[in-house]
Amino acid sequence: MTDKISLTRYLVEQQRVHGRIPPELRLLIEVVARACKRISISVNKGALGEILGSADTENVQGEVQKKLDVIANEVLIEANEWGGHLAAMASEEMDSIYVVPNRFPKGEYLLMFDPLDGSSNIDVNVSIGTIFSVLRKQHDDPTIIDPVCEADFLQPGRQQVAAGYCVYGPQTTLVLTVGDGVAMFTLDREQGSWVLTQDQVQIPADTKEFAINMSNMRHWDAPVRRYIDECLQGKEGPRGKDFNMRWVASMVADVHRILTRGGVFMYPWDKREPDKPGKLRLMYEANPMGWLVEQAGGAATNGRQRILDIVPGKLHERVSVVLGSRNEVERVTGYHLEADEATAKA
Ligand code: AHG
Ligand code: MN
Ligand code: MN
Repeated sequence: MTDKISLTRYLVEQQRVHGRIPPELRLLIEVVARACKRISISVNKGALGEILGSADTENVQGEVQKKLDVIANEVLIEANEWGGHLAAMASEEMDSIYVVPNRFPKGEYLLMFDPLDGSSNIDVNVSIGTIFSVLRKQHDDPTIIDPVCEADFLQPGRQQVAAGYCVYGPQTTLVLTVGDGVAMFTLDREQGSWVLTQDQVQIPADTKEFAINMSNMRHWDAPVRRYIDECLQGKEGPRGKDFNMRWVASMVADVHRILTRGGVFMYPWDKREPDKPGKLRLMYEANPMGWLVEQAGGAATNGRQRILDIVPGKLHERVSVVLGSRNEVERVTGYHLEADEATAKA
């Protein structure tokens, strides 16, 4: 590669040439990318950096935090709180929103993140990641500065102004959208810079690969069972083709594979916790991933409805997720709607 495009240049061009992002949003994305670089360095140190194992604390979702969950959360807060571009942040690892302290200037953006996605994979040296989503604080008059609160965050995903993830795998890759397609940047460790390695990523509409935690099969709803059962029947079944299965247990890694070569990812509602709409979190997992997938020509639903149209009722809201290759997502969604119609008629 002779003419390398850095993340900075990509963002400057999004600002200057395409007029798509203001300078404050450019700064915000660069700061998040810098924080991801720091997290990547910690991840690479592994046992040498004392980052493995449990922190012996619990987050608001009742999950035991790993040391790296806590470290990554702190890195993202420390990197972002002083720049003047943010009003507040929210994270999987914090019960409530983190308002930028008064000693720092404030901006109009809201940053949400899953600081460390795929926590069960940290200690076993399998790909993990960071997911982020950016919203603008809603105001008719941007000169009005009032205290920011949780309600400011409760916007549907279609209002995101930037979203992305960083996957810490054999390579460290930052994947980003600001609404102009999906761009991938690989971390050049010698230079310490993010280099554009793919732009306008496209997910094939059809696929022969699905990702779901099959061990939960007995808890699924009928439409999900029907879809997977048909895939498993392969060439001899109604789909007339053999399917392959992958499940990394890090959403970032599964979504990264889908953005790279297609596929469908599902974490559906199941009967283990009937009162929860799903396992994954809407605002800092499903929304950013859903927008990236849509920007790459794929689709993302909760089985019935477009994820980006869901109006959140609370910060840590959960959701069923079906995303990836368009025709497969439409098929799964169609099976849910058919089942609903049959129930309504009965
Ligand atoms: P997190 O580590 O941020 O809590 O997210 C884990 C999520 C997601 O990354 C993955 O797809 C899923 O949980 C794995 O769940 P199972 O262990 O139930 O397969
Ligand atoms: Mn996660
Ligand atoms: Mn996490």
